[in-house]
Amino acid sequence: MRAQAIPSAPATALRPLPFTGPWLLAPMEGITDPVFRDLVLERHRPEDLGGAFTEFVRVIDRALPEKVLRRHLGPRRFAIPVGVQLMGSDLGALAATARAAVRAGAPLVDLNFGCPAKGALKGCAGSALLRDPAALGAVVRATFEAVGEAVPVTAKIRAGFDDDSLLEDLAASAEANGAALLTVHCRTRKEGYRDEPDWERIARAVAAVAIPVCGNGGVRTHADLEGMRRATGCAYVMVGHGALADPWIFAGRAVSAAEAARFLLDYEEGLRTRKQATPRGASSRVKQLLRVWTAGGLVADEEDRWTWLHAEEIVARLRHVYSGRYGA
Ligand SMILES: Cc1cc2nc3c(=O)[nH]c(=O)nc-3n(C[C@H](O)[C@H](O)[C@H](O)COP(=O)(O)O)c2cc1C
Repeated sequence: MRAQAIPSAPATALRPLPFTGPWLLAPMEGITDPVFRDLVLERHRPEDLGGAFTEFVRVIDRALPEKVLRRHLGPRRFAIPVGVQLMGSDLGALAATARAAVRAGAPLVDLNFGCPAKGALKGCAGSALLRDPAALGAVVRATFEAVGEAVPVTAKIRAGFDDDSLLEDLAASAEANGAALLTVHCRTRKEGYRDEPDWERIARAVAAVAIPVCGNGGVRTHADLEGMRRATGCAYVMVGHGALADPWIFAGRAVSAAEAARFLLDYEEGLRTRKQATPRGASSRVKQLLRVWTAGGLVADEEDRWTWLHAEEIVARLRHVYSGRYGA
């Protein structure tokens, strides 16, 4: 089934994308807050990591104030740009929140059309809009008309809701309504995060639109970044889970166990000192990363992972690894 007629292309020229390179850190709720994001950003040169995003910011039926967007952007700025990601379907509230994001300093506003959570679906936001290309287009257009002259508006979709039959229509609708970049997470909502990613869907989106496409889904190694670009023709590649296992994936640098431990120690300390978590909460956020962590050989094998996850004093163990390297 084809979607309804797609509105004509926006009158205003698209703003150039601010990214400093082709590899992007994915937005991840509960993870890519300023504490985690800054640790990744400060460890990369702008040519190695081209951009990052806030976690999604849910917009329900009223505009969020600038201070909320500032909080998501965090206090530090890097040469690597960080876009604000919004999720919602109330056009007026989204437009006003996008303007607040620009006032807060966002160099780009991204729109989330992929979140599979029940709350998003009930509010007809996130992946709910994948069933209706025209409605998705209306969200892009409202945001584009609100801020498109100041900063680029980008859209992040999944390959579809239950299946991928609307992929080209969704891509075309985002483009026709002002998106300067289309990110395609190549799984459908139904496939969640489980199924093997189908990169062919990214190639289909590339063929469907003239704007740059950012491929996303299943990148696990530094070599996969270029591999996805070659296989699909996408201009950018976004990494989620792969960057949780190895935050240095963008540069492809093999770090030492001490450097890996330092990252996790800084993360734990940052969460506490920036009042994002209690000491107990900070330790469990570190454990969340250790469940998948591969960088620096810190976790030798699955048996060793079990010992990390059940360690009483995880910070003491990390300090031990760190101080062993530097002899402190
Ligand atoms: C814990 C978690 C939180 C996520 N939160 C967001 C989010 O806030 N916004 C969004 O667009 N995608 C979100 N995603 C999806 C990722 O951005 C990405 O599209 C997905 O993980 C597929 O990429 P990957 O295979 O490289 O992980 C989230 C994924 C995970 C695992």
